[in-house]
Amino acid sequence: MDRNLALEVIRVTEAAALSAARLMGRGEKDAADQAAVTAMRSAFESVAIRGTVVIGEGERDEAPMLYIGEKVGSGDAKDPEVDIAVDPLEGTNLCAYGRPNALSVIALAEKGKLLHAPDLYMSKIAVGSASKGVIDLDKSPTDNLKAIAAAKGVYVEDLTAVILERDRHLDLIAEVRKAGARVHLISDGDVSAAISTCIDSSGIDVLFGIGGAPEGVLAAAALKCVGGDMQARLIARTPEDIARCKAMGIEDIEKIWHMDEMARGDVMFAATGVTSGDLLKGVRYFRGGARTHSLVMRSRSGTIRFIETEHHFDRKPQFGS
Ligand code: FBP
Repeated sequence: MDRNLALEVIRVTEAAALSAARLMGRGEKDAADQAAVTAMRSAFESVAIRGTVVIGEGERDEAPMLYIGEKVGSGDAKDPEVDIAVDPLEGTNLCAYGRPNALSVIALAEKGKLLHAPDLYMSKIAVGSASKGVIDLDKSPTDNLKAIAAAKGVYVEDLTAVILERDRHLDLIAEVRKAGARVHLISDGDVSAAISTCIDSSGIDVLFGIGGAPEGVLAAAALKCVGGDMQARLIARTPEDIARCKAMGIEDIEKIWHMDEMARGDVMFAATGVTSGDLLKGVRYFRGGARTHSLVMRSRSGTIRFIETEHHFDRKPQFGS
């Protein structure tokens, strides 16, 4: 993949974030999501790639835009063929209620290198680089906390685990508390939470719990770029769930997916903040324009770029306006 693609990709997440942010705090999560999807879809038309959406808004019959299998980009034979994972608005409720950490995100990899995960749940564990190689989803949260503490040279009591606040996590939260670690509960947004394990200033050491599988693949791509680590297992409870996995080529439903299996080869990840959070500032409007704050990174080089952009709508109208 051409490294210049990084800037092109940022334009796509910026467009989605700018559109979604117009609806921040209005309590309309579907409208905010739709605005992000429409803007992202339009922005792709100017990117010189031959992309296939492998993680998107849903199956073809349920999503009119950015559906799984949709071809995006304006590339021709000389341009790269890439797999694309998108979440135009990660944290629809976060945006709708003006809470921190709503993002627009994209991951890109060479064709065939991203896990094609159905829109099911996934059990996840994610950590930063200091704990790379010591996590094991087959072990209990307590054992993982001990391993992370040992790798970091700290006590379990010094660790903070981020967990989605859901009833399904009551036992997990109780166990983490019993082990002595601190708990940071979040209402939504486990992609941003997974990435925060890699940022020292976030104070987060590990993400535990069950969240969306598409978000899991996006988080794996991001963590691969920043040198973190992650494992995940799909949760397929019904025969229909199992059939959906098999239709996407996943035969071993119980398999633990390691980060490098979910996002293989050279991977690029980009995100733009919709609302301000641990990782990125949200969209800030000024007279005639807006500022966005984005991040783009690539696994091959490990380079992480933060990009602050000033958009002037009188010279370049927003997508969808
Ligand atoms: P949306 O942006 O689709 O609303 O997802 C937000 C999110 O919190 C994800 O970050 C997380 O993986 C998933 O929802 C958890 O699902 P649920 O809300 O069903 O527990």
